[in-house]
Amino acid sequence: MSRLTRRQALGAGGAAAGALAVGAAGVKVAADGGADADHTVPFHGTHQAGIATRAQDRLMFGSFDLTLERREELRDLLRAWSEAAARMTAGERAGPEPSNKLAPPFDTGEAADLTPGHLTVTFGLGPAVFERHGEDRFGLAARRPAALAEIPPLPGDELEAERSGGDLCVQACADDPQVAFHAVRNLARIGRGAAVLRWSQIGFGRTSTTSRRQSTPRNLMGFKDGTNNIKAEDTAAMRRHVWADDPDWMGGGTYMVTRRIRMLIEVWDRASLDDQQLTIGRVKHSGAPLGGHDEFDEVNLRARTPDGQPRVPVDAHVRLAAPSANADARILRRGYSFTDGFDSRLGQLDAGLFFICFQRDPRRQFVPIQRRLATDALNEYIVHNGSAVFACPPGARRGGYVGETLLA
Ligand code: HEM
Repeated sequence: MSRLTRRQALGAGGAAAGALAVGAAGVKVAADGGADADHTVPFHGTHQAGIATRAQDRLMFGSFDLTLERREELRDLLRAWSEAAARMTAGERAGPEPSNKLAPPFDTGEAADLTPGHLTVTFGLGPAVFERHGEDRFGLAARRPAALAEIPPLPGDELEAERSGGDLCVQACADDPQVAFHAVRNLARIGRGAAVLRWSQIGFGRTSTTSRRQSTPRNLMGFKDGTNNIKAEDTAAMRRHVWADDPDWMGGGTYMVTRRIRMLIEVWDRASLDDQQLTIGRVKHSGAPLGGHDEFDEVNLRARTPDGQPRVPVDAHVRLAAPSANADARILRRGYSFTDGFDSRLGQLDAGLFFICFQRDPRRQFVPIQRRLATDALNEYIVHNGSAVFACPPGARRGGYVGETLLA
């Protein structure tokens, strides 16, 4: 069957569209319960899309440094980006064709015959927007939320500046890598003269579920990942752990932490199955917690082996990351597997997990959890080499833009 293009997706209606959507998008969309007719996720709303909305399979992430100098220019950039994002997520071109035929086209074109691919574009503002080296660049220092603090040095960090930080982030997720790439490329083009790309990351497979209707994917270590994640359907947990209730401008927003975590895959692949399972604290094949039978069985941290040892070892990842070990702190994980080819110096794969998480306050959630993971058995197999934190403002109203609550 031929693919459903953006134009067809938007033009088709009723039962025919539904049938086409399932047929064209194939089993994956249907299996995730997302057989919507037009392959779109609304850009506008109380919260930005790409956080609680179902995790798509592909990521293109861009972190930008601002080169503009005035607050009004920042507002104009976020407005232009939001308008373009609203159009692209609806399956339209990034902007209208210029009337001057000598000007370059307003959309680069590579997504023209593809479906909207459930594209979501999520924007975030880094701490340096509010203060950089003690300088109040845009007169916004007084509006900086306390939760938007730089991530402090953490155990096991091997951070590289060229993979860390940034003033603004664009997280584009879609079913199709070209749709996600197209979004970041066009936003970078629109931002020329105002923002430059600092680093980017492609992700090729989701490593979490954000909805009960999604099946649990596997990460590059071969384990099911996302089982005990917060799910969007659990609105009480979302309110308690994810959405900010800031009275100023961040109400309905959230804070994003990204970590580029390289896996030492060659070392992991030499570990025995037993070692691997004891490291994570779950059974590799079924995803069940050690001592359990089913993936969704509760992790019983008190269970003992017949010889009296903890069933889930004291240094197992799921024990140390569990809310019970972290004063009930929870995060919404929404990361992606990546590979950036080959590290020619070491002759090893440069691959791993581009970890993304959302929360109300990284100082009380990601940071203490990551500190707790200092004794994680997983540390033998991973290195954190990129880190960033962003405030993701609430969603834009129709006709508005992301960041309007701060910059209007
Ligand atoms: C490459 C690095 C990592 C790998 C391979 C990994 C893998 C996993 C796996 C397989 C699970 C069990 C399935 C699940 O419940 O989702 C899990 C759970 C979890 N991970 Fe990670 N993870 C990594 C890094 C991190 C980091 C950096 C954090 C946060 C600082 C984190 C926080 C959690 C949490 C909160 C859980 C759920 C624990 C529970 O309540 O049972 N993980 N991870």
